Amino acid sequence: MPSAASVTDPGSSDPEGPAKRAAAETAAALVPKGCLLGLGTGSTVGFFLPALARRQLDCTCVATSPATAEAATALGLRVVPFDDIDHLDLAVDGADQVAPDGWLVKGGGGAHTREKIVAAAAERFVVMVSPDKLVAALHPPLPLELSAFGFAAVRRAVGRLGRVERRAGALSPQGGVICDLHVELSDPAGLAAALEAIPGVVEHGLFPPGLTSTLVVGQPDGTAQVV
Ligand code: 5RP
Repeated sequence: MPSAASVTDPGSSDPEGPAKRAAAETAAALVPKGCLLGLGTGSTVGFFLPALARRQLDCTCVATSPATAEAATALGLRVVPFDDIDHLDLAVDGADQVAPDGWLVKGGGGAHTREKIVAAAAERFVVMVSPDKLVAALHPPLPLELSAFGFAAVRRAVGRLGRVERRAGALSPQGGVICDLHVELSDPAGLAAALEAIPGVVEHGLFPPGLTSTLVVGQPDGTAQVV
């Protein structure tokens, strides 16, 4: 089975590429020398990694996906397992949606479980986005990771909240099943609590506002705002 997550080639023809690159290069400038750094997953991270590598900061990195680990290692960044390190100085990642009140939806690449663990372990969490990710209101679907053990029963329980769609062939690196929940997202705190109360929901893609320290919004003209 393929892993769910990927780090897109920065050379790809994403129309948001220039804005993502601007956000990523600005975020790379925020990384201090020698820090313990969490690396997210996705195409914006694909722009961040070379910008980080160019700075030669001698950071020790943990990766939220095998794809990020591979890309970072290929660029000469030091990537270590995230098992014995109990905190990080900084984590840097992309997002799928950013609401005006700071709630995020993540997990477009299916890496949200590791991404949330890494963000929560970091003293500062920097989120890099292109302007299209800034939404007036969060919209479905919401990425989920469900336990493979008892999957049908877990899916049935989650199905009381909305329609659960399994992503074809998508398993997380820890063996969870990546799904998308088609549900109203007007009450993210309530929905997060409801999902967290269901045994077998490994993680969901709602990131609360308190998790993000800094938002970097890149623009197509190469500038970026740090909020
Ligand atoms: C992966 C994620 C990504 O951060 C999110 O999907 C944004 O990706 P991209 O930078 O490719 O737009 O949550 O699980």
